[in-house]
Amino acid sequence: MVTPNNEMLPIPTSRYAHIVGWGMAVPDTILTNHDLEAIVETSDDWIRTRTGIKERRIAGETESTASLGLKAARKALEVADILPTDIDLIVVATSTPENIFPSTASLIQNWLGATRAGAFDLSAACSGFVYGVDMAAQAIRSGSMRVALVIGAETMTRVMDWQDRGTCILFGDGAGAVVLKASDVEGGILSAVLRSDGSGGDMLGIPTVGSEDLYHSDFSPNGHKMHKMHMNGGEVFKFATRVIAESIEQALDKAGIGIEDLSLIVPHQANARIIQAAARSLKVEPELFVVNLERYGNTSAASIPIALCEALDQKRLKPGEYAAFIGFGGGLTWASMVIKWTGSKAPEVRAGISINQQRRQISYMVVRLRSQWKRLNHQISNFIEKVTFRRNRIQRLRDKADQL
Ligand code: ACO
Repeated sequence: MVTPNNEMLPIPTSRYAHIVGWGMAVPDTILTNHDLEAIVETSDDWIRTRTGIKERRIAGETESTASLGLKAARKALEVADILPTDIDLIVVATSTPENIFPSTASLIQNWLGATRAGAFDLSAACSGFVYGVDMAAQAIRSGSMRVALVIGAETMTRVMDWQDRGTCILFGDGAGAVVLKASDVEGGILSAVLRSDGSGGDMLGIPTVGSEDLYHSDFSPNGHKMHKMHMNGGEVFKFATRVIAESIEQALDKAGIGIEDLSLIVPHQANARIIQAAARSLKVEPELFVVNLERYGNTSAASIPIALCEALDQKRLKPGEYAAFIGFGGGLTWASMVIKWTGSKAPEVRAGISINQQRRQISYMVVRLRSQWKRLNHQISNFIEKVTFRRNRIQRLRDKADQL
């Protein structure tokens, strides 16, 4: 590696990417199965027995994918006890981004004041978080970055067709985030297997504004509502049960450990029956899996980090233990990952308010003011440009008139 002045930089020795911070955020508003009975022809009993879901969270008027992602990110920075300016990369995995662009990641980068970070959104549906962690871990292992923030954030209830009982009962809103940091200590992200099968792309999706939106219609060429999610639940169910066990076994092989070495599996929270089927295929106890879908439903790219946060807060992983993540969903995509947990200083371990904590609080205030100031500056420059342009135009017209 060389600097712009052609000076050689030392080759980085940190070769492991560890999860050192985690945080989650869910909206306060709860939508129960009983509430859904008033919206579509369904029942609490049907939803619970077919999916395991009892309730889900719904984003309020002032909440969005970016605001939930920001909350989760701030908590993850607290646990990691690092400053926003330490972050080199922000990846937001989402299927419900704030905009096509600017990216949700850039919005969060600005609100955090992560002024040294690159930021982008990643679209791999419910597998997005595992894809994002792997991309960030690769960047850290290559030595090009030291700290990365990976967020899975969704407002799935904003893209539901509330007349389609096959999908609207499944999804909820929320966000989860992790901080990854370079270290010389062996462990962290050990292996990942990322896969895609685009031939199954029509099994589930949100056909919104894209390169195929030539018709400016409320319906896509295949008849689905443009801005709403559609899914062939039965086909997705079969696909999920087929790939989970196979994918985890591939990631375990890559990591050089066996299924018996795992202390925890954090799966995408789609359906309790899918998780039970995976446990049978892998010949492990269902208790090995983290399951919280009864409270949040399927939060797509946010589901794995939310489940991971709850498991870590409950201390279900001890230093030196191994865990696997498995995501699957639209694309089709699926992804699994094996990590060796090395532990992190839990926030309650640190006495009092740390200096970094104070610096983060001040930095969030400064960022807000700086952001408003920058926006005002842009507006003033635009205004001046417009006035100058008009004045020049009038002058040119006058000059022309004089020549007549
Ligand atoms: N309430 C009551 N009845 C219903 C409901 C409902 N909400 N939804 C469907 N039914 C009915 C159907 O109409 C059907 O009735 P019929 O037999 O008279 O035709 C019956 O229940 C059975 O329907 P199925 O679709 O066969 O039900 P199934 O047991 O497959 O469950 C479900 C449907 C829950 C959607 C399941 O297929 C599933 O979980 N699929 C996987 C979803 C998934 O994993 N998604 C992950 C990816 S998400 C992402 O990437 C964004």
